[in-house]
Amino acid sequence: MKENIESVLQENRRFEPKQNFATQARIQADTLDDLYQRAEADHEGFWADLARQHLSWDTPFSKVLDDSQAPHYQWFNDGELNVSRNCLDRHLQERGDKTALIFEGEGGDTLHLSYRELHREVCRFANVLKNAGLSSGDRAVLYMPMTHQAIIAMQACARIGVVQSVVFGGFSAEALKDRIEDSQAKVVITADGGTRGGNIVRLKDTVDNALQQGGACVDTVLTFKRAGNDCAMQEGRDVWVEGALTHVDEKCEAVPVNAEHPLFLLYTSGSTGRPKGIQHSSAGYLLNAIVTNQWVFDLKEDDIFWCTADVGWITGHSYVTFGPLACGGTVVVYEGAPTVPDAGRFWKMVQDHRVSIFYTAPTAIRALMKAGDDYPQQYDLSSLRLLGTVGEPINPEAWMWYHRVIGAEQCPIVDTWWQTETGSHMIAPMPGVTATKPGSCTRPLPGIAADVVDEEGNSITTPNQGGYLVIKKPWPSMLRTVWGDDQRYKDTYWPMFDGKYYLAGDSARIDEDGYFWIMGRIDDVVNVSGHRLGTMEVESALVAHEAVAEAAVVGVPHEVKGESLACFVVLKGDRPEGGIDDAMTQTLRAWVGEQIGAIAKPDSIRYADNLPKTRSGKIMRRLLRAIARGEEIQGDTSTLENAGILDQLKGEQ
Ligand code: WT7
Repeated sequence: MKENIESVLQENRRFEPKQNFATQARIQADTLDDLYQRAEADHEGFWADLARQHLSWDTPFSKVLDDSQAPHYQWFNDGELNVSRNCLDRHLQERGDKTALIFEGEGGDTLHLSYRELHREVCRFANVLKNAGLSSGDRAVLYMPMTHQAIIAMQACARIGVVQSVVFGGFSAEALKDRIEDSQAKVVITADGGTRGGNIVRLKDTVDNALQQGGACVDTVLTFKRAGNDCAMQEGRDVWVEGALTHVDEKCEAVPVNAEHPLFLLYTSGSTGRPKGIQHSSAGYLLNAIVTNQWVFDLKEDDIFWCTADVGWITGHSYVTFGPLACGGTVVVYEGAPTVPDAGRFWKMVQDHRVSIFYTAPTAIRALMKAGDDYPQQYDLSSLRLLGTVGEPINPEAWMWYHRVIGAEQCPIVDTWWQTETGSHMIAPMPGVTATKPGSCTRPLPGIAADVVDEEGNSITTPNQGGYLVIKKPWPSMLRTVWGDDQRYKDTYWPMFDGKYYLAGDSARIDEDGYFWIMGRIDDVVNVSGHRLGTMEVESALVAHEAVAEAAVVGVPHEVKGESLACFVVLKGDRPEGGIDDAMTQTLRAWVGEQIGAIAKPDSIRYADNLPKTRSGKIMRRLLRAIARGEEIQGDTSTLENAGILDQLKGEQ
């Protein structure tokens, strides 16, 4: 990146923490200063103190950071603990009867599990796993609906040191087979089916299909009953969990594992090639998950915390299954779509369960915003005290809606930047202290050495100049490697700067107040007439127009300008008849010109009912780029949520 990325987005609104939030927050201004100073003065000592304070160890560690295999860093690696014991057993005395988990199904069925009950169910299922021949270090793939059963299964794996890999229940049989084979799992844990949008998702059928295509490593398929659909059970391989549970003991000692023992693998789909199994540790991972729940979400004893992410994503690991439970919190788990029976579902659930902390993705916020203010206004949202977002930059328009309509201008919004690879929040506000600016994830957390650098690795000191987002020191919850492929780990995350800085793959800028603004993936930067623009900023300008619900912008080669901007837009109302609506296109081009400048005026705008997204809600710009360029779509499309939309987009060419 010889020429820096130009920032064209101006956002000057600033929101100070409200007094009543600030006074009760765990982290106060002076504690925060102290945390930054301690981390700055002694990076390892800072994390070691926190690891002693927040984790229960079976064998205390004496070594803090081991960099002898860098960039495969290790933390606390002569200590031993168990993650499930840290999440469950250690609360039994103090809060055994406290609700650990509130489950709600799409049909409205609910279930509350106390810490004692959850602990018992986890122990029983861990015994089922043992009876299936699993022991510490073996792998299990979970292909589950988003139910309490998924949380129980994850905790049970952790309890006996089984390395778990959750595959999101929307993935295809082929994607599932690839992940089973890559991890060489002995056991698949699944359910008959799940429910989504009123339909049964036949999970067990997909497992059968995957195992027909491959996955010879699997000898047992443990199947929970959930949706009640029939499914084939193969003699000698497939076992109903409910049956197996009748023979097991309620006691199961947690197995101490090394701090570095892999807690889980989580596959992310790269743009090409086989999926990458991101490998996380036990102790370091859990430590950052705990402290970020306390720092960023201000999670406390009386909170009801609802993170809407599925356990198939890292967010569902760190902010549903492991982090909040290790803090003794209460989590809400919902199996179903946000729009069933209507777009008020989330808000009704906030009201019914008295949710106090709500964490979701910008894509969900935009979709619910598009549905109109009438839905949230029907419900009592006064239990909410903090809102969060993750997954992509939140455009200021959606941020303001979230703030105004959902938070009643009372709740801090924590925009959290992090990745599957980082394991936990890296850049995010401390809600009682940090003033927020719509669209900025604010400042790196204490102990997280995030920076924006140029091609040579020098810090960019001019405010608002874009560059590479890096993390300059190892942190406890960082990924350890790509499962079975150390070279790919090095090539992907440490390819520049002499392998000294972790390369996140995002471009970002830092403003005059030291606030970070994520500009998008490095691959998404477009060069228009020599100006390097982050497409996210143009998208944000488009969405700021009252008629626009969502937008994606990609670069296409242009004879004169080098590249020009091609936009894909979803309008709030219906898609314009007959494809491209000239009046609307004129309006939007002029609008972007006003908001950003003539340089960013899109050359083409296409309209669609939706955009191609991954199942976690990220827009797949790679596909849009191919469509805009009239190229064949190449590479993996198995992670696409709404494959039909591609035809609509192509038809408009
Ligand atoms: C990528 C990581 C982390 C859990 C969910 C996604 C983008 C994530 C933000 C944010 C701007 C964000 C980045 C990052 N991203 N959070 N608050 N602001 N961009 O995990 O699938 O590993 O994706 O998501 O581009 O690199 P993931």
